[in-house]
Amino acid sequence: MQNITVIGAGTMGNGIAHVFALKGFSVTIVDVSQSALDKAIQTITKNLDRQVAKGGISESDKNNTLKNISTNTTIEQGATNADLVVEAATENIELKLNIFKKLDEVCGAETILASNTSSISITKIASVTKRPDKIIGMHFMNPVPVMKLIEVIRGYSTSDIVTETIMQLSRKLDKIPVEVNDYPGFVANRILMPMINEAIYSLYEGVAGVEEIDTVMKLGMAHPMGPLQLADFIGLDVCLSILNVLHNGFGNPKYAPCPLLVNMVTATNLGVKSGKGFYEYTAGSKELVVATRFRKKELI
Ligand SMILES: NC(=O)c1ccc[n+]([C@@H]2O[C@H](COP(=O)([O-])OP(=O)(O)OC[C@H]3O[C@@H](n4cnc5c(N)ncnc54)[C@H](O)[C@@H]3O)[C@@H](O)[C@H]2O)c1
Repeated sequence: MQNITVIGAGTMGNGIAHVFALKGFSVTIVDVSQSALDKAIQTITKNLDRQVAKGGISESDKNNTLKNISTNTTIEQGATNADLVVEAATENIELKLNIFKKLDEVCGAETILASNTSSISITKIASVTKRPDKIIGMHFMNPVPVMKLIEVIRGYSTSDIVTETIMQLSRKLDKIPVEVNDYPGFVANRILMPMINEAIYSLYEGVAGVEEIDTVMKLGMAHPMGPLQLADFIGLDVCLSILNVLHNGFGNPKYAPCPLLVNMVTATNLGVKSGKGFYEYTAGSKELVVATRFRKKELI
């Protein structure tokens, strides 16, 4: 396996391209947006510079990594020679199904097609292709160059040999793969999202304030970040959408999103990306200020 195509040049796509190229794979990043491709190369360069400064890699590692990356704006040109495609485009089911239909047409019969989706069924994606045994989830964590885990998701029809190939390949990237089956939320989000939802319920019911809830989880459970701050970083719209996948997928009311989360998303208080969620964020600053509305325990 030598030629890797990454679909999507955003937050995850540029990180995935970075780690493959650093290990000597030839990587093509495909995005519909030329400006997203240009930005991805800038981000990868900046992140490689940081690794050089920390002594993790040499200047020539950095230059070789950048030489291993090319970009393209069409799947037809960018994915035809791929041994493996890792799709990391926008989380939208129709968009992903169209991408996989196209990949199935243009890629060689042996090409493995992986998705980095956080919540869409791998089995559903496989169902629109003629190679369901070669469709698999490779769920990288953000930031990709730093985080060790890859959740490897077996769809209902994914073959043993394809799963083993992806497990071995993940280890070549110096990552630790964990094999899981394809059910809503896989493992990571099935556990993380109910915890975040419960933190939002604790706020909604007035059990404690934002800082109190986050402090309990940081100091009491040794979490590096409290669940409400983490929700702001992930994006409250993304949290809501994953909770809806869990709720609809299992039909169990325990996954129902907290009404406060629904209200905040409706009001476009989405967390860091909109400047306001459970905390307020000023542009370019990581400084957190608890959003005024949630400062007191009488919250709603
Ligand atoms: N951000 C995270 O923390 C995170 C973590 C794990 C998994 N994921 C998953 O990774 C995927 C990508 O997320 P992201 O945060 O990098 O998104 P993003 O919005 O940063 O980037 C998505 C990119 O996909 C591109 N795109 C859209 N349609 C396309 C198409 N038809 N062909 C090619 N490119 C297309 C967009 O132009 C954009 O550059 C999603 O499935 C998401 O669920 C995200």
